[in-house]
Parts: sequence; C-alpha cells; structure tokens
Amino acid sequence: MKIHRKFLRLLSASLTLCLTAVVAYAQAGVTKDSFGKTSTGEEIDIYTLRNSNGLETQITNYGAIVVSLKAPDRNGKFDDIVLGFSDLDSYLKPHPYFGAIVGRYGNRIAKGRFTLDGVEYKLAVNNGENHLHGGIKGFDKVVWTGRGLMTRTGPAVVLTYVSKDGEEGYPGNLRVRVTYTLTAKNELRIDYSATTDKNTVINLTNHSYFNLLGEGNGDILNHRVRIGANRFLPTGASSIPTGELRRVIGTPFDFLNFTPIGKRIDQDYEQLKFGNGYDHTWVINGRPGVLRFAAAAYEAFTGRLLEVWTTEPGMQFYTGNFLDGTVTGKSGRPYPRRSGFCFETQHYPNSPNQPSFPTTTLRRGATYRSTTIYKFRNRASTQSGETEFPKP
Ligand code: GLA
Repeated sequence: MKIHRKFLRLLSASLTLCLTAVVAYAQAGVTKDSFGKTSTGEEIDIYTLRNSNGLETQITNYGAIVVSLKAPDRNGKFDDIVLGFSDLDSYLKPHPYFGAIVGRYGNRIAKGRFTLDGVEYKLAVNNGENHLHGGIKGFDKVVWTGRGLMTRTGPAVVLTYVSKDGEEGYPGNLRVRVTYTLTAKNELRIDYSATTDKNTVINLTNHSYFNLLGEGNGDILNHRVRIGANRFLPTGASSIPTGELRRVIGTPFDFLNFTPIGKRIDQDYEQLKFGNGYDHTWVINGRPGVLRFAAAAYEAFTGRLLEVWTTEPGMQFYTGNFLDGTVTGKSGRPYPRRSGFCFETQHYPNSPNQPSFPTTTLRRGATYRSTTIYKFRNRASTQSGETEFPKP
C-alpha cells in the first residue's frame, strides 16, 4: 500500500515535470513583425526570439542589430540589458553602432589602406585618418535578408548580406551569413560565416553595449569584469595597435581576476589616455579557432553575470567612453559616458598592415567562420568573494 502511494506520488510528480517542460517548451519561439521603412522605402523587420526560460531578444535585419535583450536578475525580474532604441528611425540616424554587426572589418585599418596580392586598396576613411568599422556605410547600416526559424538548440534568425566588390573600397563580392540563436542554456549564440570571389580581408563582430543594471540605469563602473587574457595590444594616440603584445600584469589592464571597471579607468597610464578609458584589444588566452572563455562581467546589485566565449583571437573591451548623454535610449533616458560596455570579439585591429598579427585575409574558395556566445546567468546572493565565481 505504502509503495503503491509512493509510486503514485512519483508518477504525478514526473507528469507535472513533463507538463511544465512541454508548456515551457511551447513558449520558445520566433516571431517576425514590421519595424518600419528606410528612407528609400525598404521594409524592415524585427524578429523576437524567446527561449523556454523566458529570455527574449529582438533582432532587426537593418544592420543585423540586437535591439533588445531581456535577462533575469537574481529574483527572476527581467530587464533589457542592452543599449538601443525602440524605433527604426532612431537607428537610421547616426549612433555609435548600438547592437550592430560591424564589418566588413570591425575596428580600424590605419589610413584606410592595405596591400593584398601586390595591389593597394584604399578604403573609406571615417575616423580621423583611419578606416573604422567597415567605413561610411558599414554592415551596421545595410539591409540584411532575414529568416526566423526554430533549430535544435533554440529559436534563431539567419541574416545574410552580399557586400559588392568595391563596397567601401574592399575587394571581392563577399557573401556573409550571421545566425543568432537563443539557446535553452540562456545563451545568445552568434555564428558568422562568409565566402568571397576574390581575396579580401574580413573581421566581423557584434557591437552590443551591455549594462547589467538594465539600459538607462546609470554607468557601468561598478560592474566587475574578468578577461581571460595575459596580454593586451597597446595602441598609438589614434588607437592603432603598435604591434606590441604587452603583459597585463602590473597594469590597469589586468582583469585576470574580477575587478570593478571603474577602479583604475582614470589612472595616469598613457594607454588609458589614448583610449579615453578602456578601448583596447585583449589577446584571449588559448587557441584561436577553439571556442573558449574570453570574459565575464558581474553586477552585484542585480546578480547578473554575463560570460563571453569565442573562437576569435582577441576581444575589444570598450567602456562607452564616447557616449556623452546626447543620445536618448529606448526608455527615454539618456546614455551618459560609460553607461554601457562592449565585449567585441574579433581579430586584432589593423591586421592587414601588421604581418605579425593573425591573418584576416579571406581567400577565394575558403570559408570564414567565427562563433561567439554571450551567456546570461544570475547569482542567488550578493556574496562578494571573487573565488566564488564559476571558473570556466
Ligand atoms: C569601437 C572603437 C571605439 C568606438 C566605438 C564606437 O569600440 O574601438 O573607438 O569607435 O567602437 O563608438
């Protein structure tokens, strides 16, 4: 009798569990809505991806931009933790690459010039004397072709774009594909691939600005950051790497242990002056091409923890130094200086002119591939001990 009751209880518990799983699973999905029109009348869509835990992200095919990302704090309260706008018109005006895919070459190419196969290419110059983030009309300002779908790992949106031979000065027709997947493990996974019909250079990244307090809720200086990198790339005054790979130990660039962003950001260290704060590439430990831990950020008030994993050799850690409060975000609040930070996984800036850096050349017939995962966790309490953080 006793066994019988126990069995029934077990059966009902497992049934409840199954039902919950089914209901939760049923909530995962992807929907497509209109996001408006460009000035030339092109219809733009916005895709909403939702996973079985309620994590939600919105992505538009204009600039392949991550428009919103709602993640839970330690009490299960969801907030939008990326900077951006709620309407297409705001994205059509100048803004600092909020949430966008930057390309064909993320970050700088010195003087907008490089030589490939003996030919010198001249790119659009849009950052002092340098080329930045793909030029005047980079991948962040073009209309991608989108397709929402359910995959085995979760709801996804596949975005493709053909960048014409000569666009912004780059050689080769480049076919680019970016897939955003929201997995059941609370990850926003980005898979990039590209092919070209002529040798070219490529360096794609995502330029999301995170604020784990929720966008519009002040600066990010109390977030604690950890970067899995023993070395970083010092730059000259115009943010072009010098070629040196400098050890972080003993410098304000040492994030091997969780350290508040604001702790050393205004120190009298030449590299911080050049960047106006942190705006540098860290050389991620481990083997490029292999998906490995890159960085984490933790915000103690909300308990939100963001982890980044990548196949890329480097990561640009940018602390929103050029935000100045003139841009108003989606909830009507301005974005002041350092109110968001970027973890831009990428190859090193100016690689086409630095033979000692890992190559960014994509040859005809070859396929460029890159994967980055942003994983969202939260911690149950405000323990402050650094050692309690999950080690990758
Ligand atoms: C990158 C660059 C910065 C800045 C931002 C956008 O992180 O390195 O210098 O251009 O993008 O404003």
